[in-house]
Amino acid sequence: MELKLVSANPALLETDAVVLIETEGGRRPELAAYGHLYESGEISGKLLEFTLLHSVPGISAHRVLLVGGGKAEKLDPAAVQRLAGAAVRHIKGKGVRSIAISLDGSLGGAAFVEAAARGILGGIWEPDVHKTTRASDKAVESISIVVPDVTAEISSAFEKGKVIGEAINVSRDIAVEPPNLLTPLVLADRARAIAEAEGLSVEILDRDRMTQLGMGALLGVAQGSDQPPVMIVIRYTPEVPSQDHLGLVGKAVTFDTGGISIKPSEGMEKMKYDMCGGAAVIGAMQAIARLQPPVAVTAFVPSVENMPGSNAQRPSDIVKSYSGKTIEVLNTDAEGRLILVDAIEYAKQLGCTHLVDAATLTGAIVVALGFVSSGVFTNNDGFQSKFLAASKVSNEKMWPMPLDDDYSEQLKCVYADIQNIAGSRWGGACTAAAFLKEFVGDTPWVHVDCAGTAWIDDAKPHLAKGPVGIPLATFVNLALNW
Ligand code: BES
Ligand code: MN
Ligand code: ZN
Repeated sequence: MELKLVSANPALLETDAVVLIETEGGRRPELAAYGHLYESGEISGKLLEFTLLHSVPGISAHRVLLVGGGKAEKLDPAAVQRLAGAAVRHIKGKGVRSIAISLDGSLGGAAFVEAAARGILGGIWEPDVHKTTRASDKAVESISIVVPDVTAEISSAFEKGKVIGEAINVSRDIAVEPPNLLTPLVLADRARAIAEAEGLSVEILDRDRMTQLGMGALLGVAQGSDQPPVMIVIRYTPEVPSQDHLGLVGKAVTFDTGGISIKPSEGMEKMKYDMCGGAAVIGAMQAIARLQPPVAVTAFVPSVENMPGSNAQRPSDIVKSYSGKTIEVLNTDAEGRLILVDAIEYAKQLGCTHLVDAATLTGAIVVALGFVSSGVFTNNDGFQSKFLAASKVSNEKMWPMPLDDDYSEQLKCVYADIQNIAGSRWGGACTAAAFLKEFVGDTPWVHVDCAGTAWIDDAKPHLAKGPVGIPLATFVNLALNW
């Protein structure tokens, strides 16, 4: 599908469908002939109301899709992103080949155009790669965003939205793969292909290399599976060398059975999503390569399969992490933090001055924040403020969570330097973050627990069910705003 930005009068466009947004109490001048629909209340402009009209007098397109935008004062870029996605999902599959989405009046600004581009790409994506008949077989070929005037600012906002939206779909394509087809080695191949296509340098650490380096925490998780582990490293260097070096770390457990501390079978299929953090980081690198932020960025994606094989680690095993700290593994299902700390140490060794990580780390964050916001933890409030500002402009909901010594206290261990779970399960998202913090040290760091937000179990008007691609946009905007 080709996404374009054009300046035109939407009424005169030769296209299969024109999408117009109508807010509550508004009356689109193009629909003067339909006064009766407004008067009867069929068209009210309320949020996500769809009215499909054919052969509208004065409009060249065969169809007009009128989308309710709700209250005008609530129609911000995030809302336009959802509306654009919902409009696309509403008409794709109706045999429509070309669509034009008109943004005019107060919606013509750069932020709205960027949001619409992301919304369109979000809505077009389907989780159907493994269906023998795909929805994309009768797919939309082109979608245009139509504005009255294409300024330089609007055109670069459009490009940015498009680059981020495409990267999000790349990350969703990875995340949606089932665990038999997406093993750590396959993930490494896909990451390499994406990075090389963008001219980024890639390094894949294999088991031997990680053994040499002493990444005992990661290797302990991997040893229960026949699938070999990898650490994927992708580097972006800006044209003008930067003092700072941002490390993006993403958890990529291609399947999490829990290991010997095995999970209940009910709902276990969801654990194919346990690599969403890594998929977001890989996708972010594609967007970063294209948008060229002023800061050096390196991605670190530790990838393993957490299985209860005959060589699996046991509860009570003690492993030595790459940092040198010893860890008592009291629960093999708390594996994300184990692979992350070896990646974090590697990032520090490679000179990262700032770190952010994304991980589907705990069920506890879902208890705390539900499926709405990701939980954000930090050792540096100033850095977290910048991160949250980036999340705002990315339309990705995040909420700051507490992290202090009272959580770290609960990880004190008699037999090793630290234990991988707290004594109590309460506050589990905070004690998981506290575990990471012990390895991060003083490097400014933000941790995103996206266990509740990386995947939607039910489709939304603007998104198919499955992986969502968060927090990719926040990572990219953080680098762009550096
Ligand atoms: N990948 C899971 C996190 C998870 C669990 C997400 C349930 C969604 C639903 C993670 O590896 C995990 O298993 N965490 C455990 C930690 C516990 C053993 C301390 C959890 O949250 O139950
Ligand atoms: Mn687990
Ligand atoms: Zn996990």
